[in-house]
Amino acid sequence: MSIIEKVLNKAKSEGQKLIDASNVSAEITRENRQDNHLNQPFESVDLTVAEQGEKSIEHRQLVCLDLERLAELGFIVSSDDQTQTIEEYRNIKRRLVDNAFGPASAGITKPNVILVTSSVEGEGKTYTALNLALSIANERDKKVLLIDADVARPSLAKTLGIDVKYGLIDYLENDWLSYTDIEFKTNMPGLSLILSGKQHKHSTELLASNKMTLFAEELSNRYSDRIVIFDSPPLLAATQGVVLAKLVGQVVLVIEAEQTLQSFVTASVEKLSSCDVVLAVLNKSKAGLLDKYYYGQYGQYGQYGQYGHK
Ligand SMILES: Nc1ncnc2c1ncn2[C@@H]1O[C@H](COP(=O)(O)OP(=O)(O)OP(=O)(O)O)[C@@H](O)[C@H]1O
Ligand SMILES: [Mg+2]
Repeated sequence: MSIIEKVLNKAKSEGQKLIDASNVSAEITRENRQDNHLNQPFESVDLTVAEQGEKSIEHRQLVCLDLERLAELGFIVSSDDQTQTIEEYRNIKRRLVDNAFGPASAGITKPNVILVTSSVEGEGKTYTALNLALSIANERDKKVLLIDADVARPSLAKTLGIDVKYGLIDYLENDWLSYTDIEFKTNMPGLSLILSGKQHKHSTELLASNKMTLFAEELSNRYSDRIVIFDSPPLLAATQGVVLAKLVGQVVLVIEAEQTLQSFVTASVEKLSSCDVVLAVLNKSKAGLLDKYYYGQYGQYGQYGQYGHK
């Protein structure tokens, strides 16, 4: 029995709802992981857009993603192909989007705000968060904002081959920075980014601050058709992940196949016990489609009946 099956059985025996679905199963081992390279051009343009007269001049910043390079690194930059990876992300995305905007959203606080996390480092959080964001943007379902909230060890900028001046931590620390100073549009329509900003010794406190709580609420409400995805630190290695989990409506728990200890997954699930929805994704699985599960948990609302098996 796999780690996930054991954890899921335990959860089931405790009365928690299980949902099956497909997930990410890229053929990868620790040995053949690809390292990402930061060698790509960066373009930042300040677009000043006058909307509704002079009083609402908005400064929009644009970063240009090298989509060819991202495709080479295994990211979904086009939905034209019918690869297994694209299909699997489509399934995960569909579940998240349904939870965010379908009938179930009524029972979830901030249903369109999603945290991607894992138990320990290197399980594929950033890979999953970025692919989910790209998958959503690609198919023009919804707008998507991807935020690097792995403030201690940010990696989104490097993965994307970009750099920007200000990010989330700068915004939380400085009242003179506005939202538009940290949000960047991209050349992929519908995809915006917020990077982590400068490293800060009080980053946990900043993420736990009232300003961050208000920010998460504002993100959820700002656009009715937008998904917000936070890439986060691992739950068992840093405190920020648990702090962030309290701010979102849905959590995607990435589990590295054949690597993550069952006890780690159980500990993570316990840390997420107050979250409305937790979906588990088995990543880097060599087992194919048979060994895959979502784990749904609706602790606060108990709306178990809304999500049946596919
Ligand atoms: N499904 C996958 N297929 C191919 N490569 C993957 C997959 N998942 C992750 N990787 C690769 O594994 C490595 C670790 O992934 P990633 O950086 O996403 O993990 P992480 O959980 O964000 O790590 P950290 O805790 O350090 O932030 C990266 O090189 C990434 O490209
Ligand atoms: Mg990461």
